[in-house]
Amino acid sequence: MADLNELTEKLSAIKAEVTEGLKALASSKEAFEYRKSLMDSKTGKIGTLMREMGKIPNELKAEYGKKVNEIKTWAQGEFDALETKLKEKEMMARYESEKIDVTLPAKMRPKGNLHPNTQVKNQIVDIFGSMGFDVYEGTEIETDYYNFTALNIPDNHPARDMQDTFYLSPEFLLRTQTSAGQIHVMEEGKLPIKVISPGKVFRSDDDATHSPMFSQMEGLVVDKGITLCDLQGMLNVFVEKIFGEGTTTRLRPSYFPFTEPSVEVDVSCFQCKGKGCKLCKGTGWIEVLGAGVVNKKVLEDCHIDSNVYSGIAFGIGIERIAMLKYGINNIKLLFESDLRVLDQLDD
Ligand code: PHE
Repeated sequence: MADLNELTEKLSAIKAEVTEGLKALASSKEAFEYRKSLMDSKTGKIGTLMREMGKIPNELKAEYGKKVNEIKTWAQGEFDALETKLKEKEMMARYESEKIDVTLPAKMRPKGNLHPNTQVKNQIVDIFGSMGFDVYEGTEIETDYYNFTALNIPDNHPARDMQDTFYLSPEFLLRTQTSAGQIHVMEEGKLPIKVISPGKVFRSDDDATHSPMFSQMEGLVVDKGITLCDLQGMLNVFVEKIFGEGTTTRLRPSYFPFTEPSVEVDVSCFQCKGKGCKLCKGTGWIEVLGAGVVNKKVLEDCHIDSNVYSGIAFGIGIERIAMLKYGINNIKLLFESDLRVLDQLDD
């Protein structure tokens, strides 16, 4: 390079080229790459200018250096400004693309729920648990003695006909009632007793409201001075919690060999509040369970002094409660595992 004119021309050519080049840059990454290539001390158009200093006559060197520095500073400034602008644009684009619309409905995730029978069972356990009841779980296979004889239903007693029994052998059977558990608990001999006993029971019975297998919740309280009033008091708490505030009970005389007196317990219709509707068949009351004062003979057979202790017992049909609570008219719906039905029955 012989004189400064030639250099000036060269520099303005570079400047023009860079100015054009800058316009074509679309991203900060492109700008970074372009800057790197220009400034590279071995290959870059601006980066190599200093190396050419050697060919410059001494008296022009100072001027040459100044001009090269000028273009370098200019280029740096241009790049800095452009890169800042591009980065800002890119940031905005990212914000835009990552924007979360909090008003969008959330993705529905399939969620399982407990079977309605289990839900109702758990609710009943919780309610009586809050009144201080323990849980006793009996066995599904029982002996004839626990299921019948000890409950004051001896051989050939007509009450055996009330429950069509699945016998496994002359001695063993599938329990027809959780009442069998009462005897086991009383035989343990620890007094006072306050237990509930949930479990499956079996009867050869099959129609819209009966199933060969269903679940019951037995209740048994044995203590000094227990009366039918205690029974109704506890059941009133139970029905209010399970069917809603204001629900109450009514006792009607009934017969069970292991309770004396025995009662059928009705609840006031929680749907029509007693006015009379289809659910309560116009009566304002719905029959829900059997109960009574534990028969003295049963206490005595379990070696409990009936002059000191008395007891009350009740047996709740879990599916019956579930059917009433969820408005189901066929018990089979609770055993068919049809998810279209079960998904709807979640408390
Ligand atoms: N075990 C009786 C039944 O299954 C119900 C019941 C339980 C009645 C406890 C009185 C006391 O029908």
